[in-house]
Amino acid sequence: MRGAGLSVRVDTTGNLIGRTGTPAKGAKTLLMGSHLDTVRDAGRFDGALGVLLPIAALEIVRARRVTLPFAVEVLGFSEEEGVRFSSGYIGSKGYVGRLGKADLRLRDCWGISVGEVLAKNNGGRFTPPGPAHSGKELVGYLEVHIEQGPVLEERGLAAGVVSAIAGQTRATIVFGGRAGHAGTTPMALRRDALAGAAEFILAAEALARGRPPLVATVGRILARPGAANVIARAAELTLDVRHPVDARRRTACARLRKAGRTIAKGRGLTFSMDVTQDNGAVPCSRELTGLLARSVCGREGRCAALASGAGHDAVIVSSLAPVAMLFVRCRGGISHHPDEYVAPRDIEAALGIVVDFLCRLASRYSE
Ligand code: HGY
Ligand code: MN
Ligand code: MN
Repeated sequence: MRGAGLSVRVDTTGNLIGRTGTPAKGAKTLLMGSHLDTVRDAGRFDGALGVLLPIAALEIVRARRVTLPFAVEVLGFSEEEGVRFSSGYIGSKGYVGRLGKADLRLRDCWGISVGEVLAKNNGGRFTPPGPAHSGKELVGYLEVHIEQGPVLEERGLAAGVVSAIAGQTRATIVFGGRAGHAGTTPMALRRDALAGAAEFILAAEALARGRPPLVATVGRILARPGAANVIARAAELTLDVRHPVDARRRTACARLRKAGRTIAKGRGLTFSMDVTQDNGAVPCSRELTGLLARSVCGREGRCAALASGAGHDAVIVSSLAPVAMLFVRCRGGISHHPDEYVAPRDIEAALGIVVDFLCRLASRYSE
């Protein structure tokens, strides 16, 4: 990754780390970045924009011969979406030293674990690394990301700041029944795991519809044995529950666990719900966000502060440093879809905002 004299390395968790400048003794480091991975049938901007834009901003700062009184590290995190292991933030957890045994035990659909993949990529052995930095040597973390929602477009703004990031729980749910012949098994004698799962999916949707801004999503379902003429003996689902208020999210998860048990009991099925990810809501740093908002106002004349329903690596990095996020308008708020699109003029606006933010931060640190 060429840019601003960035030296680039890949850490043991597969994160790409570009670094410019060696902090003078006692100087600090500003982190910027986002994730390199994405979801199936995705767009081109979710994650990638936040890795590339900081490099372009550093090039502009360098071209303007502005000296930053801090080093800058540009991060490209691996496995933020959690598509493979049903639990996100694996890369950023590795970066902040929070990759735990439970993360290493997570398995993909082929039964391969995170620990096995990381050992294979690191010469056969993998020990979870400690934090890449101690908190006191960090200025903070700025993540630039598409909004993945319609608000900026509705308000006619190219960019805005993020006030907080919603909490998120992910779980793997399994309904267990009994396989049987689709043609000869009377309906009253069935223990159909897939029908039980279907009832659960509608219960999750009804619960969330009734309690906005709660959202609950079953994104993937796997029926076994998965044959057209066989009653399903098992149905495995993913569940994703989010809410800005942690207590409400936790209550919703408890209700869904209870609903699953009731549905299973009524149908003679077994039910299990294993939480694979659980992150509390994260407020963004008032100080960094205030500075960023001034840069946005400088460009847009005003600044909107949005809560993020999407999760971001900033959730994990916030355990190490104060975080701020810049949202960039995306057409129709579409994301996690091939039609995801950011207009070049909005990328240019975001670039100008980040350069202005770096200069404001530099003068703050030079005071
Ligand atoms: O799921 C999310 O909110 C993000 O795209 N990882
Ligand atoms: Mn995403
Ligand atoms: Mn993302």
